[in-house]
Amino acid sequence: MIKAAILGGSGYTGLEIMRLLAGHPEAEVIEFSSRKYTGQPVSSIFPSMAGHEYDSLVFKNPADLADTEADVVFLCLPHGAAMDIVPHFIERKKRVIDLSADYRLRDVAVYEEWYKEHSTKNLLADAVYGLPELHRDRIKDALIVANPGCYPTSAILGLSPIVEGGLVDPNSVIIDAKSGISGAGREASLKTAFCENYGGFEAYNVGLHRHTPEIEQELTLLAGKDVKVTFNSHLLPVSRGILSSIYADLTEPRTTAQIIETYKEFYAGEPFIRIMPEGTYPNISNLRCSNFCDIGLWVDEARGRLIVISAIDNLMKGASGAAVQNMNIQFELEETLGLTGLPAQLG
Ligand SMILES: NC(=O)c1ccc[n+]([C@@H]2O[C@H](COP(=O)([O-])OP(=O)(O)OC[C@H]3O[C@@H](n4cnc5c(N)ncnc54)[C@H](OP(=O)(O)O)[C@@H]3O)[C@@H](O)[C@H]2O)c1
Repeated sequence: MIKAAILGGSGYTGLEIMRLLAGHPEAEVIEFSSRKYTGQPVSSIFPSMAGHEYDSLVFKNPADLADTEADVVFLCLPHGAAMDIVPHFIERKKRVIDLSADYRLRDVAVYEEWYKEHSTKNLLADAVYGLPELHRDRIKDALIVANPGCYPTSAILGLSPIVEGGLVDPNSVIIDAKSGISGAGREASLKTAFCENYGGFEAYNVGLHRHTPEIEQELTLLAGKDVKVTFNSHLLPVSRGILSSIYADLTEPRTTAQIIETYKEFYAGEPFIRIMPEGTYPNISNLRCSNFCDIGLWVDEARGRLIVISAIDNLMKGASGAAVQNMNIQFELEETLGLTGLPAQLG
């Protein structure tokens, strides 16, 4: 059995990893941290865990996980908190899967422009951007897996086939994305309170969202030239799910059927990508709690433009599901282990 520890076990992504590994045949969680809940059993904070063997474990102070016997450490911490402790776990030969943004950006100047000063920039070169559909071969031996952000996952998966193939002008891309509120984490705030959101719908961080450089980094790699996109985020008054409507100018006239074929070829054999039949489009309800990314496509032939609708569950393919997929790759397990549950269509 692979032993896993979770730093930041009392947050949404930590809880989701616990839920996934509770059903994983080859991996188990042996400890998890929370400063607020140190000493408390998991079900006192997450009653959904009652009756599971994990409930015999209590939240530990993060410092008490320093000498963990785990084989893999999931860092489910805010950005800036992960970078200080990663060297400690690398020295101890642990596999490190970081769900924060700390190791996603290759260029430290870009990280520091959008986030803060990086305390372990020397390790950036050892990190691999953990999107299996693009970087599977490098993830296997990566010292640090930089698990992608949730919005970037939906955008990059939605755009990879056509950007790599040169079917669209990547600099014409507009990504209009909406996320459920769990994307902001479990920490209580006015911004995420029920009454502030229920019945409302708004854009936020307009022109300033930190996921923009991450999307541009991966699209630049695929296009082989510098790419700048317009990305805008909205807070959807649901608990989970991301849907991105993406618009791009085609470089040559193509039909919807041809574009769908391109996507099917690009993602052939990918267990979690579902290309939808012509005339049908994703709904976050159809993939809730699953690791799927659903992609629907339509060519506006009169205007020479493509519309891509890409949807994921932000806590699954957008975070913890991807993290478990990356763990499976690193330990040479079947990539879908622990991730084959069907979506929970009703919320
Ligand atoms: N939510 C999503 O949909 C999503 C998707 C992709 C990526 N991510 C990224 O994944 C990471 C975790 O997100 P989340 O949504 O799970 O956040 P969250 O719900 O706010 O949980 C954060 C966890 O980290 C702990 N923590 C906070 N500050 C800490 C510190 N300085 N030292 C040690 N522990 C600390 C918290 O517990 P205590 O305060 O009790 O210690 C809590 O367990 C973030 O970097 C986020 O950007 C989130």
